[in-house]
Amino acid sequence: MVETLPVGRFQLQQQRLELKRWIPAFLSSHKTLFVLLWIAAFGSVFFWQWNIGGSGFSIFANVGPGRPMPKMRPFAFNLTDFGGVGDGVADETAAFERAILAISKFGKRGGAQLNVPPGKWLTAPFNLTSHMTLFLAEDAEILGIQDEKRWALMPPLPSYGYGREHNGSRYGSLIHGQNLRDVVITGHNGTINGQGQSWWKKYRQKLLNHSRGPLVQIMWSSDIVISDITLRDSPFWTFHPYDCKNVTVRNVTILAPIFEAPNTDGIDPDSCEDMVIEDCYISVGDDAVAIKSGWDQYGVAYGRPSRNILIRNLIIRSMVSAGISIGSEMSGGVSNVTVENVLVWSSRRAVRIKTAVGRGGYVRDITYRNLTFDNARVGIVIKTDYNEHPDDDFDRKALPIIRDISFTEIHGHGVRVPVRIHGSKDIPIRNVTFRDISIGITYKKKHIFQCAFVEGRVIGTIFPAPCENLDRYDEEERLVKLSAAQNVTDIDYDI
Ligand SMILES: *[C@@H]1O[C@H](CO)[C@@H](O)[C@H](O)[C@H]1NC(C)=O
Ligand SMILES: *[C@@H]1O[C@H](CO)[C@@H](O)[C@H](O)[C@H]1NC(C)=O
Ligand SMILES: *[C@@H]1O[C@H](CO)[C@@H](O)[C@H](O)[C@H]1NC(C)=O
Ligand SMILES: *[C@@H]1O[C@H](CO)[C@@H](O)[C@H](O)[C@H]1NC(C)=O
Ligand SMILES: *[C@@H]1O[C@H](CO)[C@@H](O)[C@H](O)[C@H]1NC(C)=O
Ligand SMILES: *[C@@H]1O[C@H](CO)[C@@H](O)[C@H](O)[C@H]1NC(C)=O
Ligand SMILES: *[C@@H]1O[C@H](CO)[C@@H](O)[C@H](O)[C@H]1NC(C)=O
Ligand SMILES: *[C@@H]1O[C@H](CO)[C@@H](O)[C@H](O)[C@H]1NC(C)=O
Ligand SMILES: *[C@@H]1O[C@H](CO)[C@@H](O)[C@H](O)[C@H]1NC(C)=O
Ligand SMILES: *[C@@H]1O[C@H](CO)[C@@H](O)[C@H](O)[C@H]1NC(C)=O
Ligand SMILES: *[C@@H]1O[C@H](CO)[C@@H](O)[C@H](O)[C@H]1NC(C)=O
Repeated sequence: MVETLPVGRFQLQQQRLELKRWIPAFLSSHKTLFVLLWIAAFGSVFFWQWNIGGSGFSIFANVGPGRPMPKMRPFAFNLTDFGGVGDGVADETAAFERAILAISKFGKRGGAQLNVPPGKWLTAPFNLTSHMTLFLAEDAEILGIQDEKRWALMPPLPSYGYGREHNGSRYGSLIHGQNLRDVVITGHNGTINGQGQSWWKKYRQKLLNHSRGPLVQIMWSSDIVISDITLRDSPFWTFHPYDCKNVTVRNVTILAPIFEAPNTDGIDPDSCEDMVIEDCYISVGDDAVAIKSGWDQYGVAYGRPSRNILIRNLIIRSMVSAGISIGSEMSGGVSNVTVENVLVWSSRRAVRIKTAVGRGGYVRDITYRNLTFDNARVGIVIKTDYNEHPDDDFDRKALPIIRDISFTEIHGHGVRVPVRIHGSKDIPIRNVTFRDISIGITYKKKHIFQCAFVEGRVIGTIFPAPCENLDRYDEEERLVKLSAAQNVTDIDYDI
């Protein structure tokens, strides 16, 4: 997809070779002078075209007509209008900054659109503005500069109290925004590429002194749409909306290597409400989606839940973590989440809720419906001892509440442990419902529907047979058998 530039150069070389072959023949003819004049004329037109900036460059960068970019705002600009070059070498940071400064003046007139034409646009982090559309043409690729000195530091997120990986300040995101309204990032499947490889390597070698930055992070904002683009190789979490309202992610591809791309979560709604994530393909080095709301005492103090989140029609993969996670940072609470029509393939875990003593908060009113697990080590997981804390000052009496969770129409095959609900005496799991479950297993062993400290019910017949902790109802929801003990423990991490 980024082959247009080399092809352009190749054609230019061919033209030069042809000229070399023809010039001697022409020189011997009586039309020599005419031809030389013709070449001079063509050349001057050529260089004039080149010099008028981006549009001249497009002779090579954009062979063929290219797909016209639709105008989605009353005003539209090209990045080339602001000095953008698009060769993958030039530093485009100033061009982005100039463009966005110009667009910030159009807010009262419906905002403006910034078109990023085909080409590679290397940039350091920059900030978006309200009422703007960033439109990435087909074969447009924004590349993040790898030199971390170019990534500005920011204070830790208030609900984390800590930079997440290191104490103190953290790197900001490649594309960043704070206190914005009405922002759209879209295109003809253009790409925002964080070039995370150098970050992952330095992180593993412990060469970084600050937490890595996300690819796109929008904070304290509303009415955000990200659609029809590809996000890839983020240094850290890929899209991180923080304390935002009304966020839509639609028809987006998110990619990172499935191994050795640490913490490259796909989408992490964090203290966000009214959010839709739909029609996406996500294959990354950590959770595909992880809903969060702050960490331990900092998250409790910040007190902003994630709620009213709809996730549907996704195809996702996570070999290191899980397809859809809630937590483990959930101290502001998470409620009213629906996850439906999701295929999780070749993954370590399909869906997981994770928390720990000290988190406080709650996870409740969570509905999973029509999920397909195609080869996963563990299918459904609830884990209450995810003991990763920002510091030792967390409140050991801050016990999260986990309740009102339902799983309906869950199917699949090639799963080793279909269900592992690991509550504890401190954090029992309440009111879990299973209905219409058939998960093909790879490994016949007794304990493949594992439970501990869980209370809830099974409606109808399910496969595999449920643990003894759950009450049994028939298809018409008439009680068949009450469970004798909800705190029976049958958890086996060795399977
Ligand atoms: C942007 O540039 C492309 C080629 O460089 C040109 O075809 C297009 O008309 C320009 N669009 C705008 C809105 O200026
Ligand atoms: C982006 O905005 C934030 C918040 O206003 C600011 O701290 C940061 O310096 C800005 N970054 C750039 C590159 O302008
Ligand atoms: C999804 O995005 C692709 C390009 O990435 C586009 O071709 C397709 O039309 C989009 N689908 C919808 C339903 O908009
Ligand atoms: C968008 O681009 C990505 C990355 O190149 C590709 O994997 C995906 O299939 C493309 N999507 C569509 C709809 O063409
Ligand atoms: C981290 O800190 C050490 C010691 O202060 C310094 O030598 C090193 O350059 C820093 N690394 C980065 C990536 O900033
Ligand atoms: C949510 O944001 C979208 C996109 O900006 C906007 O069209 C819609 O009106 C917003 N919804 C609400 C309820 O504000
Ligand atoms: C729950 O979230 C959905 C969006 O997924 C929303 O339509 C609904 O109003 C929310 N329910 C409550 C009680 O807020
Ligand atoms: C269930 O989800 C799959 C995608 O995984 C989808 O193709 C199918 O239409 C969904 N079924 C229903 C009844 O919505
Ligand atoms: C992190 O830094 C803050 C401010 O400098 C300090 O108060 C806190 O004790 C530090 N936390 C850890 C775990 O070092
Ligand atoms: C149990 O959870 C379901 C949703 O899964 C909810 O409708 C129901 O009201 C809850 N029951 C109790 C007793 O809270
Ligand atoms: C398990 O529950 C029973 C009552 O249902 C109670 O007697 C017993 O102490 C509980 N065991 C633990 C370890 O909490």
